[in-house]
Amino acid sequence: MRIAVTGSSGKLGRVVARELSQAGHDVIGMDVVGPRGPSFVQVDLTDYGQVVDALGGVNDTHDGLDAIVHLGAIPAPGIRSDVATFHNNMPATFNVFWAAVRLGIRRIVYASSETVLGLPFDVPPPYIPVDEEYPPRPESVYSLVKTLEERLAVELVRWHPDLSITALRFSNVMNLEDYAEFPSFDADANARKWNLWGYIDARDGAQAVQRALEVAPPGFDQFIIAAADTVMSRPNAELVAEVFPDVPLAREFGEHETLLSIDKARRLLGFEPSHSWRDHTEGS
Ligand SMILES: NC(=O)c1ccc[n+]([C@@H]2O[C@H](COP(=O)([O-])OP(=O)(O)OC[C@H]3O[C@@H](n4cnc5c(N)ncnc54)[C@H](O)[C@@H]3O)[C@@H](O)[C@H]2O)c1
Repeated sequence: MRIAVTGSSGKLGRVVARELSQAGHDVIGMDVVGPRGPSFVQVDLTDYGQVVDALGGVNDTHDGLDAIVHLGAIPAPGIRSDVATFHNNMPATFNVFWAAVRLGIRRIVYASSETVLGLPFDVPPPYIPVDEEYPPRPESVYSLVKTLEERLAVELVRWHPDLSITALRFSNVMNLEDYAEFPSFDADANARKWNLWGYIDARDGAQAVQRALEVAPPGFDQFIIAAADTVMSRPNAELVAEVFPDVPLAREFGEHETLLSIDKARRLLGFEPSHSWRDHTEGS
């Protein structure tokens, strides 16, 4: 497939662009910053003119796309002001989705976020492990935008039944160099309770994108994308008893099994994480 990857210079986008290229796809990166070259186009996603034009074609680079992977965004609350975050992320996503509709690009995979599950869980989750079965609970403007984007996608696919939009609710994205810090998390069960001790290796994030692009059924769906394990060496039963003693347990779970359920992604996308921080720490 010929695929545009927005946010291609970012932490996740760099890995996604690389892995999609290695899998044989023709990838064109789009970002406000990035390397000059044949597979990158500088685009400000908040400018609809630039977005619709660049997705429609760019000189010798491409003359039409099969799919869009939309990752370009301010990637967390608190990086910029709430207003700046809204005014960047919401128009960027609307512009990308709307341009795809106008241009007849029928496959969109984009980054939603684990935050819609109710992070930082100051209000405890309804049950553990969490899954996609309860309505979004955004607790920040960043997460509110992610929630509105999912809603936007629901309506656009209703208007255009042949359109496929997949929201990947990524957990906290990690690269190899991030893993050195992981053993220190055990000292305080509360330090990483904000996302139920979850994470996702960027390479497995890229795998989820690739699977979603391949499956891409018409309509909208959302998937939690997390590693198969937690960031902790301490067992889940102990962590949950200490931090969320009153939260019902939806099912049994393994000692270090992710509490951000990836059952749906496994079942419908064939997603299977293959990287764990446990394989990359000192002495391993
Ligand atoms: N990093 C995480 O832990 C995490 C977790 C869940 C979801 N996400 C989502 O995944 C996506 C990628 O996150 P990341 O960690 O790679 O972030 P990042 O900040 O490393 O990369 C985002 C990229 O988007 C680009 N961008 C932002 N606004 C743009 C605009 N208006 N026009 C063009 N380019 C623009 C930036 O220049 C940057 O290169 C985001 O949508 C983020 O919300 C990230």
